[in-house]
Amino acid sequence: MDANQDGKQNREQRPEGVKAVIPAIPAAGRIGSTLLEVKNLCVSYGAITALQEISLTVRAGEIVTLIGSNGAGKTTTLKTISGVLKPRSGQILYASENIAALPPHRIVQRRLSQVPEGRMIFANLTVLENLKMGAYLQRDKALITRELEYVFEIFPRLKERSKQVAGTLSGGEQQMLAIGRALMSKPRFLMLDEPSLGIAPLLVKTIFEKIVEINQQHGITILLVEQNANLALQIAHSAYVLETGRITLQGPSVELRNNPQVKSAYLGG
Ligand SMILES: Nc1ncnc2c1ncn2[C@@H]1O[C@H](COP(=O)(O)OP(=O)(O)OP(=O)(O)O)[C@@H](O)[C@H]1O
Ligand SMILES: [Mg+2]
Repeated sequence: MDANQDGKQNREQRPEGVKAVIPAIPAAGRIGSTLLEVKNLCVSYGAITALQEISLTVRAGEIVTLIGSNGAGKTTTLKTISGVLKPRSGQILYASENIAALPPHRIVQRRLSQVPEGRMIFANLTVLENLKMGAYLQRDKALITRELEYVFEIFPRLKERSKQVAGTLSGGEQQMLAIGRALMSKPRFLMLDEPSLGIAPLLVKTIFEKIVEINQQHGITILLVEQNANLALQIAHSAYVLETGRITLQGPSVELRNNPQVKSAYLGG
């Protein structure tokens, strides 16, 4: 058996500081084989090259974070994996299948979902209506009800506010709704784009606790894009640094947190 499949090994890999941020959540679950492998991905917007030969790997059960400054190409990476953008070249292997040419709904059907940057909720619809939008590929009403119960179990606050118009939720609650909506498609792999953006610090902590819960208690593999590198490196197993369209550093989060370049560029010291 691969050493990485041993839960104890994973607990040892988890950065020490995580307890300070997320006291109630137990250590990492099992890490399995490669679930997503991006190989030499190049993406352009017309004449502008946004990603140059980026490669990254996410194993089943992991939280992997992609950090980088404004305009580095983080959102472009997620949009390309979820099929919204098409690469100029390169491969996106998900569960060993190259999904680079598939349309977004076919990728969602393979249980790979994205929570977009800026949340993109439907402000005039209720919380419940927004959540049901996340199950648009599901015809079976009983399954939709079961998924709703599952989302409400993770986010009780959404249940309390199910009839509230989404535009009147706080920023943090809207982020919970965006995550809940993505969970309605029953993902095995969830990509989150800047979940802490524009949210009050107390709710940022709640959101990050939920991300860990979704990973550890529900077994969902996570690719997390964040500008708050400090928090992201505390909950992730491994990390990639993206700078102007290229991966410049990668490794276990605990190593990157101690890397002088990462410290000075992303951790404020
Ligand atoms: N639709 C577009 N047309 C042209 N250029 C684009 C488009 N979207 C993004 N870009 C450019 O591609 C580069 C990468 O953008 P991207 O949104 O992926 O960055 P990011 O790392 O997510 O940044 P941020 O942290 O600000 O969200 C930037 O230079 C950006 O200006
Ligand atoms: Mg972005």
